[in-house]
Amino acid sequence: MVGIQKRLFFLICAVGVITLMVYILTSKERIVHFVHRTEFVTVVKNVFLSKECKELRSTERRESQFVTFKFSGRLANWMFAYASLLGIARKNNRKLCIGADNPLTSAFVLEDLNVCNTLTCSDDLYEDRPCAFDPRFDKLPPSNITIHGYLQSWKYFIHIHSDVKKTFRFQDWMRNEAHSHLKMYTQKIPHDLVIAIHVRRQDMMLKSSLKLGFKAAPLEYILNAKRYFTRRLKNKVVLYVVVTDDYEWCLKFLSSNDTVILPTGDRYTDLAIISMCNHTIITTGTYGWWGAYLAGGETVYYKNFPEPGSKLDGDTEKADFFPPSWIPLNKSSLLKSHSLFLFFSYFVCVLQCNKHIISI
Ligand SMILES: *[C@@H]1O[C@H](CO)[C@@H](O)[C@H](O)[C@H]1NC(C)=O
Ligand SMILES: *[C@@H]1O[C@H](CO)[C@@H](O)[C@H](O)[C@H]1NC(C)=O
Ligand SMILES: *[C@@H]1O[C@H](CO)[C@@H](O)[C@H](O)[C@H]1NC(C)=O
Ligand SMILES: *[C@@H]1O[C@H](CO)[C@@H](O)[C@H](O)[C@H]1NC(C)=O
Repeated sequence: MVGIQKRLFFLICAVGVITLMVYILTSKERIVHFVHRTEFVTVVKNVFLSKECKELRSTERRESQFVTFKFSGRLANWMFAYASLLGIARKNNRKLCIGADNPLTSAFVLEDLNVCNTLTCSDDLYEDRPCAFDPRFDKLPPSNITIHGYLQSWKYFIHIHSDVKKTFRFQDWMRNEAHSHLKMYTQKIPHDLVIAIHVRRQDMMLKSSLKLGFKAAPLEYILNAKRYFTRRLKNKVVLYVVVTDDYEWCLKFLSSNDTVILPTGDRYTDLAIISMCNHTIITTGTYGWWGAYLAGGETVYYKNFPEPGSKLDGDTEKADFFPPSWIPLNKSSLLKSHSLFLFFSYFVCVLQCNKHIISI
């Protein structure tokens, strides 16, 4: 009887442990947090590492080992991941490995692209937060590494800044197309320089996006940013060029004699157009971020993004995401200057009134 109870107890324990393992191993989100807390899976994996892999690790030179990443996303997410991986690989003296299925090759020259699909004997590392710098990647363990994450911080590639710009050189036909497109809309309007305004709205206003903390920047911010540049470049004739995914809205609210709205083109050409302008005003998201980075002039970004207190806000370290030279702006500070003006008028009035009272 006691024997049966014992066996039953062990059986229940075994089922419990197996269920727990399956639970952990089948959920990516949970795995990320679990691994991040303990690096447990890597340790366990290493215990069961094949003899061949162990041998490779002990004999193969560090420089011939690879680093790659696993994730999915759109053009600008890929740009972040690629640039960051380039920076991480350089810092760790590793080779970069990217799958052939990346969307970057359809836009950029990518001179040093090293296509390889899977790494043998690879260890997985998971980033902490998608829009924050994770210093653990500065010093990778001595093995092939697969990084899981978005790697969306300029800090991963600041040391190879000029290489990143060279890497993301648009293919010639795309450059030409963007150039002639831009010229078509700007050549008839006299100007000294062109400032791109990237207005992203469509996917930013989906319920699912709003829930996470994405948002579209308000019109007042864009007008405020324009005011900033117009004032700053007082002696120059500035022409604003709007690149957007919401042509109708921009046409309705942003049209003016110093602003042209470009019809929405394809993602690559539109990005190339932004990169050809002198300065940039961006709204929200990573696409405008990359347009501004490639343009390399002055950049104004929306200060109130991500939505304060949201999940995205928690995932974002603003100082890691926005380069320190970029200028944060909010909605107009007109209100503030108005209140200052009112206060001042009141003050003058009180003085005047007092004078009157005294003279009476
Ligand atoms: C890393 O992966 C590459 C490509 O699969 C392989 O040739 C190499 O031997 C691996 N190195 C180690 C130490 O696992
Ligand atoms: C644009 O319009 C404003 C008034 O709305 C005017 O002051 C300005 O001179 C105009 N600029 C050009 C280039 O025509
Ligand atoms: C603006 O950009 C164009 C093209 O890159 C360049 O030729 C021009 O000198 C720039 N103008 C200013 C004022 O920076
Ligand atoms: C920006 O403006 C919004 C709305 O006016 C305000 O709630 C927010 O606190 C401001 N954010 C910053 C960082 O100044």
